[in-house]
Amino acid sequence: MGDSEAYEPYFALVACGKEALFGYAVPTWGDLDGAPALGVGPIAVDPGIQGHGVGAALIEELFRRAKRRGEWVVVLLGEPAYYSSFGFAPASRFGIVAHPTWGDFFQACALGDEAEVPSGTYTYAEPFASLG
Ligand SMILES: CC(C)(COP(=O)(O)OP(=O)(O)OC[C@H]1O[C@@H](n2cnc3c(N)ncnc32)[C@H](O)[C@@H]1OP(=O)(O)O)[C@@H](O)C(=O)NCCC(=O)NCCS
Repeated sequence: MGDSEAYEPYFALVACGKEALFGYAVPTWGDLDGAPALGVGPIAVDPGIQGHGVGAALIEELFRRAKRRGEWVVVLLGEPAYYSSFGFAPASRFGIVAHPTWGDFFQACALGDEAEVPSGTYTYAEPFASLG
């Protein structure tokens, strides 16, 4: 992944203690109708420490960084019951489409004014081309 142009270290986050890594979030640049847009994932937390806010901390830090860089939207493929608490909603609500079988699992979160979120077809970065 580090060799991919879609990878940007600024957005790649790890949660760690003194001796162990507890979790990570590695967004990549996908394509939203010709413009770069961040796709989150993989994101994962060590099963031994899940449910203690590590996932939330990773997502919130990612949002902070993306806003700082002037991003309008972040997309992901994941469990709506979890991600809706961070403001994610079905991407179709923003007119963003990807694979037809993903349904409401393909989600988007507006980082500012929802009206400014561009619509279109989202394509994940090449390393995730097999998704779907
Ligand atoms: C999803 C994941 C990253 C969340 O990390 P986490 O550190 O456990 O999350 P938090 O501690 O911030 O939040 C925990 C809350 O989310 C809920 N939650 C976690 N996974 C959930 C899921 N798949 N669906 C619904 N709720 C979920 C927990 O029940 C908990 O709720 P509570 O606070 O009311 O008890 C973690 O569970 C994980 O690594 N899962 C396996 C990998 C995965 O599915 N990654 C996402 C797809 S790329």
